[in-house]
Amino acid sequence: MNMTVNEAESYLDTFLLEVHDEKRVEIVIIPPYTAIPKVSELLNQVQNVKVGAQNMSAEKGGAFTGEISGAMLRELFVRHVVLGHSERRSLYGETDAIVNKKLHTALEASLKPIVCVGETLAQRDANQVEEVLESQLKGSLAGVTAKELHEVVIAYEPVWAIGTGRTASPAQAQEAHAFIRKTIAAISDQATADKIRIQYGGSVKPDNTEALMSQSDIDGALVGGASLDPRAFSEIVKHTCKLLD
Ligand code: PGA
Repeated sequence: MNMTVNEAESYLDTFLLEVHDEKRVEIVIIPPYTAIPKVSELLNQVQNVKVGAQNMSAEKGGAFTGEISGAMLRELFVRHVVLGHSERRSLYGETDAIVNKKLHTALEASLKPIVCVGETLAQRDANQVEEVLESQLKGSLAGVTAKELHEVVIAYEPVWAIGTGRTASPAQAQEAHAFIRKTIAAISDQATADKIRIQYGGSVKPDNTEALMSQSDIDGALVGGASLDPRAFSEIVKHTCKLLD
């Protein structure tokens, strides 16, 4: 619940100036629903920055007061939608079954889902990281074909690292990402697992971007707090691009 329409507009003024030459990474701005029309309009002529949504309904349409459908998002040129963010899971009771229903609805609407998974601190301390990730992935991705998985992005977001300033170490993140890739291969096939994009999220900042993004199974970042500052977010983009030199 960050950024009014006006704030999003002035954010983009700064951000787009900083990143307009950074064409080698895919950048997605994911504002609240109300700012999507304006952000989408401002990004209309911009090749390297797309717009996404933070959530969507599991239903296609109908009497679901207060909900937003995939078709409504597509009409605003939204391409990506975040599903099962840990705040949705912990504060709004979203289960893997709900995330799975949303995933199928999103794919039907030609949206690219960014499916979030990640363990709590208690689960990490109890050595349950792999068990939790496996059950979240199997539950959230149930019934998805290999072809559909090409449209899906996975975000590994350890709950204890989101908004806490506590980042997973590059080695911890790499280990979880490698496990996620292995699980995707088991759910689907190795070629799909090799190709799928797995982003890390949880206190990503300009000064830890390079160490995280240089891990072999980390393919991108899902940035929360730091992305609220257009300069910090553009620094993260630039650090990531530098690794491609
Ligand atoms: P953070 O948030 O970067 O502030 O930890 C990540 C997220 O909200 O997904």
